[in-house]
Amino acid sequence: MASYIATASFALSTIFTALVLCQSQAQLNSTFYATTCPNVSSIVRTVLQQALQSDPRIGASLIRLHFHDCFVNGCDASLLLDNSANIQSEKNAAPNTNSTRGFNVVDNMKTALENSCPGVVSCADILALAAEAAVSLAGGPSWSVLLGRRDSLTANQAGANTSIPSPFESLSNITAKFTAVGLNTNDLVALSGAHTFGRAQCRLFSSRLYNFSGTGNPDPTLNSTYLTTLQQICPQNGSGFNVANLDPTTPDGFDNNYFSNLQNNQGLLQSDQELFSTSGAATISIVNTFSSNQTAFFQSFVQSMINMGNISPLTGSSGEIRTDCKKVNGS
Ligand code: HEM
Ligand SMILES: *[C@@H]1O[C@H](CO)[C@@H](O)[C@H](O)[C@H]1NC(C)=O
Ligand SMILES: *[C@@H]1O[C@H](CO)[C@@H](O)[C@H](O)[C@H]1NC(C)=O
Ligand SMILES: *[C@@H]1O[C@H](CO)[C@@H](O)[C@H](O)[C@H]1NC(C)=O
Ligand SMILES: *[C@@H]1O[C@H](CO)[C@@H](O)[C@H](O)[C@H]1NC(C)=O
Ligand SMILES: *[C@@H]1O[C@H](CO)[C@@H](O)[C@H](O)[C@H]1NC(C)=O
Ligand SMILES: *[C@@H]1O[C@H](CO)[C@@H](O)[C@H](O)[C@H]1NC(C)=O
Ligand SMILES: *[C@@H]1O[C@H](CO)[C@@H](O)[C@H](O)[C@H]1NC(C)=O
Ligand SMILES: *[C@@H]1O[C@H](CO)[C@@H](O)[C@H](O)[C@H]1NC(C)=O
Ligand SMILES: *[C@@H]1O[C@H](CO)[C@@H](O)[C@H](O)[C@H]1NC(C)=O
Repeated sequence: MASYIATASFALSTIFTALVLCQSQAQLNSTFYATTCPNVSSIVRTVLQQALQSDPRIGASLIRLHFHDCFVNGCDASLLLDNSANIQSEKNAAPNTNSTRGFNVVDNMKTALENSCPGVVSCADILALAAEAAVSLAGGPSWSVLLGRRDSLTANQAGANTSIPSPFESLSNITAKFTAVGLNTNDLVALSGAHTFGRAQCRLFSSRLYNFSGTGNPDPTLNSTYLTTLQQICPQNGSGFNVANLDPTTPDGFDNNYFSNLQNNQGLLQSDQELFSTSGAATISIVNTFSSNQTAFFQSFVQSMINMGNISPLTGSSGEIRTDCKKVNGS
């Protein structure tokens, strides 16, 4: 009898604990703003369309902001906070400085949303919505974005320095950084497909063109025709700030050409080409699948964007809804 009571009370307390946990880790959902800001997606999309008129690269820049936000303390808009007395901005972390762009467009989205639904839509959700709009406007898939994230009160510059993958890292190190945020090898390959649009600066790949790993020669995994093109864009003593298209075939379109580029040894970054050229890697067959089947790539990409967007969001009463994405409220 006593043991029966003990078992029953253990079961009850387990259920209770599970309920409490569920509440503190509330799920995002696609209808979060259905009554409070029903037009949120089209407002974000309209501001992006406006920006694309004068800057065909801006969609790519915006999806990258969502990635760099989510990998550091979760998708909480920590990346958007400027330096202040209490904030050491992630914008000045190594992967972001002189590199991330589009913050002014995020501010324009926030202003438009504050005009329609003041104090309602988080900056973290704006990044997730902008990422989807960027992909679909560039010819990629559309999906229902999960919403309900709140904005952080802090930034983590040291975390940004260490958690965001670098283009010079080995495949196993990059895989480890994805695993650290709960993303697997399939997510890594699918999300790398975002390099089907946008640009990269010469300083982030030019060592491959002239003196790879101190060998005095180019990276042997670089297609020799493509090498000549890249050497013209990035002369040996030229500006490291010149840019090349991440996808030389369809620079601003969202498609699966990124993966056929890798098969042709035309990955721009070392980290891109490693997905196909690391001998024995599990990533090779995934690259081949996405290269031969764009539908398979799009399906995986959508699922992996949802997975990335689910990294430790602040929900419920954690964090806040910032009125200015650059600043913690009241600071
Ligand atoms: C797998 C590890 C990754 C590495 C090492 C990496 C690295 C880089 C680097 C070095 C650049 C060029 C930045 C510059 O020149 O200023 C870049 C650009 C870009 N990245 Fe990644 N990235 C990775 C994953 C991702 C993911 C997961 C996404 C989004 C889902 C993404 C989206 C982009 C986009 C769209 C651009 C072009 C941005 C623009 O034109 O402004 N990247 N990435
Ligand atoms: C979406 O999430 C919010 C907050 O957790 C909740 O209040 C709302 O009921 C959810 N909507 C649906 C349809 O699940
Ligand atoms: C929603 O926003 C779009 C773009 O900003 C606008 O064209 C449309 O009229 C809006 N619809 C409603 C119901 O407010
Ligand atoms: C950013 O670029 C400028 C040149 O445009 C350079 O002076 C500065 O040192 C760079 N900052 C960092 C941290 O690399
Ligand atoms: C992050 O990296 C940048 C650039 O290398 C450096 O200036 C900064 O001090 C680093 N910040 C932290 C907190 O480690
Ligand atoms: C991989 O990570 C280890 C541990 O942080 C580091 O020592 C090593 O230099 C990295 N290698 C590459 C190629 O990035
Ligand atoms: C290539 O880089 C290595 C190591 O940084 C250096 O020792 C060597 O002199 C360089 N070779 C050429 C041809 O520049
Ligand atoms: C680049 O500069 C180095 C020394 O700074 C010089 O030795 C080399 O000849 C230059 N290369 C070209 C292609 O101008
Ligand atoms: C180099 O790229 C071209 C396409 O531009 C392709 O036809 C060729 O097969 C590639 N070579 C290698 C070795 O991948
Ligand atoms: C392409 O991928 C989709 C989604 O995974 C799958 O349903 C379809 O059968 C694949 N097509 C071919 C030709 O393999």
